[in-house]
Amino acid sequence: MTTVTELLEPVEADLEILLSDLRSLIGAGHPILQAAAEHLFSAGGKRLRPGIVLLISRALASDGGLTSRHRRLAEITEMIHTASLVHDDVVDEAATRRGVETVHSRFNHRVAVLAGDFLFAQASWHLANLDNLDVVKLLSRVIMDLADGEVKQGLFRYDTGQTFETYLEKSYCKTASLVANSARAAGVLSGYTEPQLESLYRYGRQLGLAFQVVDDILDFTGSDQQLGKPAASDLSSGYLTAPALYALERNAAMGVLIEREFSNEGDLDEALGMVRDSDAIARTRQLAETFAQESREALTWLPDSPYRTALLELPDFVLSRLY
Ligand code: IPE
Ligand code: IPE
Ligand code: MG
Ligand code: MG
Repeated sequence: MTTVTELLEPVEADLEILLSDLRSLIGAGHPILQAAAEHLFSAGGKRLRPGIVLLISRALASDGGLTSRHRRLAEITEMIHTASLVHDDVVDEAATRRGVETVHSRFNHRVAVLAGDFLFAQASWHLANLDNLDVVKLLSRVIMDLADGEVKQGLFRYDTGQTFETYLEKSYCKTASLVANSARAAGVLSGYTEPQLESLYRYGRQLGLAFQVVDDILDFTGSDQQLGKPAASDLSSGYLTAPALYALERNAAMGVLIEREFSNEGDLDEALGMVRDSDAIARTRQLAETFAQESREALTWLPDSPYRTALLELPDFVLSRLY
């Protein structure tokens, strides 16, 4: 299996620079907020989102080069992502992230809320300083979508009447929007044409959806240690993701358990069993494969380069997290 480090190898040096730049960018803040942000940055995520921006930026340059604005865009992308994780972990009451304590567990809730705000604010400031209104619109839309996605997800907790469409919209807002719009923004900074920008957006959108669907499967099949965050937490929080929605379609008894919010002893285990023992995981995997393939197809027009190769392998990497 290819690891994410192998896959991002063509931009490994760029990602090293990105990490040190991020550290100095957030260094200007209040010491406690700095410590909170630093805590998660040094725990090290997969850095997939900035990796994608960097790969696209280099793939689009005729000399394979990278401008400082493209670099900054990648940094903004990771800042927005990390900010959303800090806030999400408060909402989800999650104890671990990236294999370490979450910011609110390590510090406290007040610090986590402020640290997330601080990162969003930093990201907005650096975004504005790119001096490109189209890019500002794309990435500020992402911040709106992230908030919208969290709210949508909250409103539909334990709601067995929700449609699959709602789940996909929520997944777009929470995950795919950032990947799609930052991919498009890299193309905007490179001066590409509308059809090409559209395909960059589509690549990111379908890849982001595949990623979220895979993440939703792993929540049912993975362990805390594997994931670096609590497993089996979606259903217990009332978040009905693809595996749960598919299982619900086959088994009406599951609806009863969900609607009483797993209040009886053994309810949650029974429901988890219904998901794991049905064809729900297999059907969800099929859905992820479709998104991954659509993502790959969107970028076949790129000229040959190591960056293109990595971009076209990324959808398969996302799926390989399942095996
Ligand atoms: C976690 O994203 C949030 C989801 C969209 C499921 P990642 O799994 O990419 O998190 P890091 O950045 O690698 O920690
Ligand atoms: C991750 O959301 C954070 C955002 C993308 C806003 P989730 O709650 O779905 O994912 P994990 O499981 O905490 O990573
Ligand atoms: Mg969460
Ligand atoms: Mg959440």
